[in-house]
Amino acid sequence: MDKAIEYAVKTVEKSLDYFYDCFPTEQSRDLVFGKFENVSWTPGFYAGLLWLTYELTGSEAVLKSAKHHSRLFHERLKTKTELEHHDMGFLFSLSSMADYTVTGDTEAMHDGLEAAGWLMKRYQLEGRFIQAWGALDDPQAYRFIVDCLLNLPLLFRAHELTGKKWYYDAAYNHMCTAVKNIIRDDASTYHTFFFDKETNMPLRGETHQGFSDDSCWSRGQAWAVYGLALCYHYTKDENIIPVFNRVTEYFIEHLPEDFVPYWDLCFGDGSGEPRDTSAAAIAVCGILEMEKYYPNARFKDAAERMVRSLSDKYTTADRPESNGILKDGMYSRKHGHEPECTSWGDYFYLEALMRMKNRDWKMYW
Ligand code: GLY
Repeated sequence: MDKAIEYAVKTVEKSLDYFYDCFPTEQSRDLVFGKFENVSWTPGFYAGLLWLTYELTGSEAVLKSAKHHSRLFHERLKTKTELEHHDMGFLFSLSSMADYTVTGDTEAMHDGLEAAGWLMKRYQLEGRFIQAWGALDDPQAYRFIVDCLLNLPLLFRAHELTGKKWYYDAAYNHMCTAVKNIIRDDASTYHTFFFDKETNMPLRGETHQGFSDDSCWSRGQAWAVYGLALCYHYTKDENIIPVFNRVTEYFIEHLPEDFVPYWDLCFGDGSGEPRDTSAAAIAVCGILEMEKYYPNARFKDAAERMVRSLSDKYTTADRPESNGILKDGMYSRKHGHEPECTSWGDYFYLEALMRMKNRDWKMYW
């Protein structure tokens, strides 16, 4: 584990100057990330990677870069760049809130709270969910996605910091809507779920990045594992526990021999399909979070096997030209992507290693 951490933090430090005033692209090309503006949903992962690296190394240079990236998130708010976005949690939990968590910087905390306010604008009061993409008054866009569970901690945290109950209620209601609708009877998940805008009755599940509407997209299932663990952390709602257990069991049961899933859980060894290493890293973080409250030897063993497999077989250690850490991430096979490093895969892999090294690590979520 120490060697795996050393490789990851060295890789981050290698590109510190290159990414000083920007962010890595969502995914690499030929395992090399290019430069990206602070737009869309992924820049927070680089900010989080810097904060993890700082906590693991104590490097002043890394701290300087992490603080600079906090400023870039402050500017994103001031310039109102793509803020009407359901992924404000992915963006601001790992940047502004991470800064506040690590350094106590209250200006960063206020940026996080401002971001939570923006996220609230996408909350559909009648439907009781945070709408994913599209205009809020468009009946065709009246749906949420399983990934959004990871945006809820920003609202739970905003409640903790301000005492304002509407943040908690929105997050809690979204969680309940998700548990009720996006998780199938067999504990697999739909990627996305539609409601009728007039009646607010559930309509149907569909996929966006998975193989088919009735298959189980690996990263979607991993978002459910980690999202539920985070919801439990904030709510201590015991109803979550059996759901978490069943969803996690489904994920583990569908892992191939080396414990790193193919991009959809309908594929197994011999399918010839690419994997999604990021899904494994995300699931590990969820299992290790829940491990704090409900230790489960089978889940913990699976988490350890996933991390070992990722670090033994799936890092860029054999590709010195790469500026990423974890290979074989799959953004969206359905949209023609190839296996690459992904900005979120690198983040969750290092978070998983951090959680293994330090069980008491104070998370940024
Ligand atoms: N949240 C988008 C994705 O997982 O690709």
